[in-house]
Amino acid sequence: MNSFIIPKQAARLAVLQRIELANPFLLKIRKLFGRYIFSNLVTKYFLNANSIGKRYYETMLNEFLTLEKFIEQNHKSILSIGAGLGGLEIIINQKYNDKTFFFIERNYVSKKVKYGWDSSNNEAYNDLKVQKEFLTLNQMDHKKINIFDYDHDILPEFKFDLVISLLSLDYHYDFQIYQNYLKKISNTDTLIIFDTIRADYFKKIFKSVETIRTDINTVHKSKRIICRGFLT
Ligand SMILES: C[S@@+](CC[C@H](N)C(=O)[O-])C[C@H]1O[C@@H](n2cnc3c(N)ncnc32)[C@H](O)[C@@H]1O
Repeated sequence: MNSFIIPKQAARLAVLQRIELANPFLLKIRKLFGRYIFSNLVTKYFLNANSIGKRYYETMLNEFLTLEKFIEQNHKSILSIGAGLGGLEIIINQKYNDKTFFFIERNYVSKKVKYGWDSSNNEAYNDLKVQKEFLTLNQMDHKKINIFDYDHDILPEFKFDLVISLLSLDYHYDFQIYQNYLKKISNTDTLIIFDTIRADYFKKIFKSVETIRTDINTVHKSKRIICRGFLT
């Protein structure tokens, strides 16, 4: 596999979730006509799904390489918070085939997609039906897929081995929103990986915090950290 199979509707979501997938021409249009036209017109009708599928695959493969050494054989259940379509999880599934995936996401697309800190956590860009279709189209067995709507569902409550949240938790919205939930679903061995601009803050929350990547080119100049064991 060197590309994802991606229907048009999913390609639109991928671009909204990862603006770097848009080519320079599309970015220019976004600048000229604004976010509303870009999100509701351009991404609906003027995307080349095949090339988005290829670029999305390459981007997710690079993300996978930053995490690969932390994914262990005995990690059976993975929780992804704000995974978007789940391209990263498809790659994990290809490499290991024995993991079950739990996704917590949202089921709407904001009218004007903004990429910045969202203190009220209103911004979202997903469609859970499209996400499920995308995962199964790319060979994730439907028995391994568990998708939860953050706004409407009771979230899964058992101990996870690994929690992943790229460019979502504490990147777009406050960690606090999930703090109590994460305490409930983790034990001392659970690895929690996410991107943040305030890595040091988490030394007061977790027993161990390790930086595994520093991004100076993103909007937020963030760090990817891997945390273990809540202190209280
Ligand atoms: C910038 S995208 C990143 C998507 C994916 N992790 C990636 O790296 O491509 C942020 C995602 O977080 C989701 N999101 C926003 N608020 C959320 C919440 N409270 N819980 C879970 N997901 C959320 C959005 O719908 C969106 O798909």
